[in-house]
Amino acid sequence: MSFIEWTEEMSVKAPVLDGHHRMIIDCLNQLHPLLETKGDGADIRAVMAKLEDFVLLHFAEEEREMKQAGFPDWRAHKDLHDRMYDVVFSLKSDIERGKVLDARHLFDLLNDWLVTHILGEDQKYVPFIAGHDHQPVAQWRRSNGKDV
Ligand SMILES: [Fe+2]
Ligand SMILES: [Fe+2]
Repeated sequence: MSFIEWTEEMSVKAPVLDGHHRMIIDCLNQLHPLLETKGDGADIRAVMAKLEDFVLLHFAEEEREMKQAGFPDWRAHKDLHDRMYDVVFSLKSDIERGKVLDARHLFDLLNDWLVTHILGEDQKYVPFIAGHDHQPVAQWRRSNGKDV
């Protein structure tokens, strides 16, 4: 069983965005057991790099969807994304520079920010984007030779 399970209450009723959320949660689940292990940190760095990639991709697509659907609070939501990205980026940079982080703190922070955001803030745009779902990110990833 995964540390964080994706549940139906996390769904934003848009398969592409739900798929991104699942990828982000999958990264957190991959990160969790690595925090207990001793090593050179290469595995943690790889997961953090993947997490940054997914988070960037997802935030851009979610912001585009919110704007397109006329969600009135999209700017405030984007500000939350920007702050979350800063946290992910600075943690990733610290880890890359070899800084020893408090593992529990790192995981709790990412879990709090990302999962709480999916369960709370993201739910607010659901009525606006209902019925919209586009696949530009999947197409971009395919055309750039990345696994979707
Ligand atoms: Fe989201
Ligand atoms: Fe969001």
